[in-house]
This record gives sequence, C-alpha cells and structure tokens, in this order.
Amino acid sequence: MAVISFANSKGGSGKTTSALLLACELANTKRVTIIDADPRHPITTWATLTGVPENLTVVTNESEKTILDEIEAAVEQSTFVIIDLEGTASRLMSYAMSQSDLVVVPAKEQQQDALAALDVIKEIHRDMKANRRDIPYAVLFTQSKVVAKSRTARFISQQFRDNPKIDTFKTEIFERDAYSAMFAVGGSIRTMSSKDVNNLDAAQRNVEAFTAEIIAKLRANREKAQQVA
Ligand SMILES: Nc1ncnc2c1ncn2[C@@H]1O[C@H](COP(=O)(O)OP(=O)(O)OP(=O)(O)O)[C@@H](O)[C@H]1O
Ligand SMILES: [Mg+2]
Repeated sequence: MAVISFANSKGGSGKTTSALLLACELANTKRVTIIDADPRHPITTWATLTGVPENLTVVTNESEKTILDEIEAAVEQSTFVIIDLEGTASRLMSYAMSQSDLVVVPAKEQQQDALAALDVIKEIHRDMKANRRDIPYAVLFTQSKVVAKSRTARFISQQFRDNPKIDTFKTEIFERDAYSAMFAVGGSIRTMSSKDVNNLDAAQRNVEAFTAEIIAKLRANREKAQQVA
C-alpha cells in the first residue's frame, strides 16, 4: 500500500497529467485509486470517456472535510492511492500530504514553477514538524522539451539537481502529444494507436521510467524507515 500525492501550488505545473500517467501505468498490474482533488475535476471528466483501465477507480473529492476519509477508504481497496491536488496551497493539500508515503512536486523548468516548488517544499517541512513524521518528497520536471531545451530550463533544473537537500526524479516527463491526447480521447497511452499520436513508443518508455523510479523511491523510503524503527 502506498499513498502518492501530486502537489504544486502553481497552476499548470503538470500535476494532473503526471498523476494520471502514473495511475494508468500502475493499474496495468495493481489496483489503483486516484482521488481527484483538482477543483476542475479533469480526471473525473476523463473517466467518463472510454478506455479507463479495469484496475483503476476514480474518486472525486468532495471537500477538505472529506479528504482524510476518502484516503482511508481508498487505502482499504487499492495497492496504490494517487491524489491529484489543486493548484493552490490549502488545508486540503496539507491533509493529503500528511497521509502520503511520497509527495511528487511537478514543476516546469521555469522560474515561477521552480519558486512555487520551493514553497511546497517549505510547506511539506512545516507539515513534517506539525505531524512529527517524515514525508518523503521529490521534484519532477515536467513538460520538458524533447529537443532544443533552453539554457534557462537547463539552469533551473540543474540548480535543483545540485541541491543535496532536495530529492529530484532523474526522469523528466517530456512534452508529448500522447499525454495531452489522453484527456481528449480517453484511455491511457497504452490504449492509443501509434497511427493517431506522435512518438507513442517514446511516451510509453518515458512513463515506464517514471513509474520505475516511483517504485524505487517508495522502496528506499520504506527501508530507511525500517532501519530507523
Ligand atoms: N507532459 C506533457 N505533455 C504535453 N502536455 C502536457 C504535459 N503536461 C501537462 N500538459 C498540458 O499542460 C496543461 C496543464 O497541465 P496539467 O493540467 O497537468 O497541470 P496541473 O498542474 O494539474 O494544473 P492545475 O494547477 O490547473 O490543476 C494541460 O493542458 C495539459 O494537457
Ligand atoms: Mg490539475
């Protein structure tokens, strides 16, 4: 069982897209619940289209008052619970993070996203103090350009990668047609046809690498916690 939330108070940083990619990939082999706490409810809308993986349940969050109960119920049913959070710092975000085994902080390689990521990290540290519990987190760079990455983009991500206090994913989620197409046509990148979207193979490999890194981080954190206990 693992609870993974996606948090960054900057709108459009890639929370919903990365959360759905991970959820669908994990649902290939395990039971997964995704809690849609994005006020626009994009994943709830996606779930009305065809192609939702059999092992994936979508729960629409009602409010900050219900999020803890929704997480508790989802943990009973599923091996992985993924929470897509809203694009503003809130009590709901703190509640979700307090229950998480891993917080993924998606950020575009842009200054505003990077600053917002730092704000979320500060919030996570406050929550850790308040709850007297370690909350592992890692920054995920998203919507990266496959070709011709700008010097600014490289500089921003490198600053995070060089900071020994901040964990980052080696994998970055590239900007891909397939990832935005999911929301328009439904289903996952596994159910799409390479005739309809560009570079589907590369998109699938990208998501596999991200998912493998998630599993590795959960495992490493669990081992660390056991050593401390
Ligand atoms: N890796 C990607 N490749 C292509 N398009 C992407 C990618 N990630 C996000 N997008 C597009 O960028 C926009 C914002 O992404 P997304 O909705 O995932 O961000 P968000 O952090 O959930 O935003 P909000 O804070 O508003 O909830 C969407 O239109 C989405 O389709
Ligand atoms: Mg969103």
